[in-house]
Amino acid sequence: MYICLCNRVTEKDIEEAASNGATSLRDLRSMLGVSSQCGTCESAAMEVLFGAFEADPGLYYQVA
Ligand code: FES
Repeated sequence: MYICLCNRVTEKDIEEAASNGATSLRDLRSMLGVSSQCGTCESAAMEVLFGAFEADPGLYYQVA
């Protein structure tokens, strides 16, 4: 499912970014372009990111 339509970023892209060390919206913006245009994807992107941390708490603690 697309989370950021402006940049064609999917839920899977965000989960992969979390696996690669993304821990914030700033990280998602620099890695994928999330929220770099209209910004309406911001809350959905964060939900997916936090969901990835809940599914695998080790993701967050590896980089924090
Ligand atoms: S939907 Fe993500 S910047 Fe527009």
